Amino acid sequence: MIDPFGRHITYLRVSVTDRCDLRCQYCMAEEMTFLPKRDLLTLEELDRVCRAFVAKGVRKLRITGGEPLVRKDIMVLFRGLGGLLDGGGLDELTLTTNATQLARFAPELAACGVRRLNISLDTLDPERFRHITRRGDFDRVMEGIAAARAAGLDIKINTVALRGINDDELSRLVGWCGERGLDLCFIETMPMGDIGAGRVDHYLPLSVVRERLGETWTLSDSAHRTGGPARYVEVAETGRRIGFITPLTHNFCEGCNRVRLTCTGTLFLCLGQEDAADLRAPLRAHPDDDGPLLDAIDAAIARKPKGHDFALDHDNRPAVARHMSVTGG
Ligand code: GTP
Ligand code: 5AD
Ligand code: SF4
Repeated sequence: MIDPFGRHITYLRVSVTDRCDLRCQYCMAEEMTFLPKRDLLTLEELDRVCRAFVAKGVRKLRITGGEPLVRKDIMVLFRGLGGLLDGGGLDELTLTTNATQLARFAPELAACGVRRLNISLDTLDPERFRHITRRGDFDRVMEGIAAARAAGLDIKINTVALRGINDDELSRLVGWCGERGLDLCFIETMPMGDIGAGRVDHYLPLSVVRERLGETWTLSDSAHRTGGPARYVEVAETGRRIGFITPLTHNFCEGCNRVRLTCTGTLFLCLGQEDAADLRAPLRAHPDDDGPLLDAIDAAIARKPKGHDFALDHDNRPAVARHMSVTGG
């Protein structure tokens, strides 16, 4: 699949639920309205759409949410999609999770062919963790991370850098991840969805973070790439990498290789734009014929926009109305 700007689309992010057991301040409002269950694609339908994308050339599938591991029977989907690895057309099956359910699911994920996963963790302080997530239990997340390591999964920690919230801990996170053999990725907060508060005050450009980390750690540019948007540096002291995802300070849309499916079967063509296509209608109208679904995918890719135009707005208006949790980032 090649879009109008010559970009090869090989990465599908699939949000399997808009629900989450946490309420991270920068992601959700305290009170969120979630979709009624009847609007969701079934696990069989999600599996079918993923297979259609793999037939079209997708090589990397990332399962997201909300929190993907709160979706009932989600291991059924992982088991099915794991069958596409090793010669079935898929190079990587992975997920982004908050780790609260990992103690339970890590061994099974590894058995399904998941090799690495990304875990969202913004602080190492239990009190602060409770404050940022509004309801999270830090020890439970630590147990989840330990279970994933014990299952042999490679882990990348995702940390949203937030001025006045966790900026005093970012260097400590580098050391903490280094000691445990985990990669780490810092993310700039993006203006998606109404969170009942502004983002401008907490916005921290990653150019500043990198400069500050350079006072403690010896950093050198790395050519490492995962197919995601992060640009990496090596940390000489830990032998690990740090990634920087910088939609605001350094737009990386020219290399975009991904589209996003929501749990209702809407395909968003860019994280920061409203352009979307309904895949649920062709999926349901033709249960035994993938032709219309494949055509709908082609027509959508032909409309993929050039990129986002995220900017932090002092009136605190989000750039797009939907929350990050609708597409899982
Ligand atoms: P890797 O496969 O490890 O590179 O993961 P990834 O960075 O592709 O996925 P992950 O779910 O860990 O996403 C990390 C952050 O990157 C999230 O905040 C996403 O919203 C953000 N992100 C991923 N793709 C894009 C993109 O196309 N545009 C923007 N602006 N942000 C993105
Ligand atoms: N800006 C940047 N990152 C966000 N995430 C959630 N909301 C936002 C936002 N508004 C992050 C989560 C998770 C990843 C999928 O997206 O922390 O690591
Ligand atoms: Fe849940 Fe992730 Fe959003 Fe936090 S950032 S509320 S863990 S979906």
